[in-house]
Amino acid sequence: MNSLTFPILRMLADGQFHSGEAIARHFGVTRATVWNALQDTESLGVKLYSIRGKGYRLPQPVRFLEREGVVAALGDQAGKFTLEFHDRMDSTNSYLMQQAAGGREHGTCAVAELQTSGRGRRGRSWQAGLGNSLTFSVLWRFDCGAGALSGLSLAVGVALMRALRELGVADAGLKWPNDVLHDNQKLAGILIELQGDMDGPSAAVIGIGLNLRLPETMRKVIDQPATDLQSILGWSPDSAQGLGTVLRHLAGALEQFDREGFEALREEWMAHHAFDGQVVRLHMPDGREVDGVAEGIAADGALLVCTEQGMQRFAAGEVSLRGAA
Ligand code: BTN
Repeated sequence: MNSLTFPILRMLADGQFHSGEAIARHFGVTRATVWNALQDTESLGVKLYSIRGKGYRLPQPVRFLEREGVVAALGDQAGKFTLEFHDRMDSTNSYLMQQAAGGREHGTCAVAELQTSGRGRRGRSWQAGLGNSLTFSVLWRFDCGAGALSGLSLAVGVALMRALRELGVADAGLKWPNDVLHDNQKLAGILIELQGDMDGPSAAVIGIGLNLRLPETMRKVIDQPATDLQSILGWSPDSAQGLGTVLRHLAGALEQFDREGFEALREEWMAHHAFDGQVVRLHMPDGREVDGVAEGIAADGALLVCTEQGMQRFAAGEVSLRGAA
């Protein structure tokens, strides 16, 4: 990719027009070089308005992440993370999975302004354009084996709920295992990938996508109803503050999980259970579907559903409200 593309996009972050001449002067290059650098934006899915006589502008202002803001929001937890900022990446999870295999240290956090192949659970994609979502992954190492991490993805959901409450969203809910919903629309998603032996040690790459500000065009390409902090709060928190706040709560919940297991977080998860007591349909990985009433969560994070065959536990699958799409 052209090395000037993101520096120019940063200059355009205010959402105002900047003439090709002013941009060229700022970077000490020709206007043709600026034009060239901006040709890449389309392939990145970044829309730019270009008007003769006025120059270039982004459709809306974008707040790029700044390290100092993230560190300030992390407060006394800042030392627990090694922060890596990237302009673009295929997927922060894919990147950290590779890094983890190469011995990368515990607490590494890779954040991307833009992911070109963001991944979701169950083979889905995570769609977000520039400035639409916080997209980052954290590498967390455990002494225990991957077999003991069954409740981890729910623990991360609890961390997100704590962070969202601090950011002003008190009424979000959790859809098992860890989708964050607001008014039945998806606000955030979590993708956890594990490395290591069943007996330990193990490493988890915890990927989080949190919607900040989704334009209508992006909502249309997302395969389910989605919402963002801007719509919920009427304003969108600074992305650095958002990232630092989520990371601080993530460190707290992960340490608690490591010390005491998911059991210590179970009540809190249940308090946010979006489908508690409702009639749900479980879509199993093998294609089977099971209907019943969502009853709660077992100590290992499995979903408990009261079915015609009695109480059943589900460790995998996708849950939806029965009758809902
Ligand atoms: C889901 O809800 O299906 C999980 C979505 C997880 C998306 C995040 S964005 C940062 C990290 N990198 C990825 O490729 N995916 C996760």
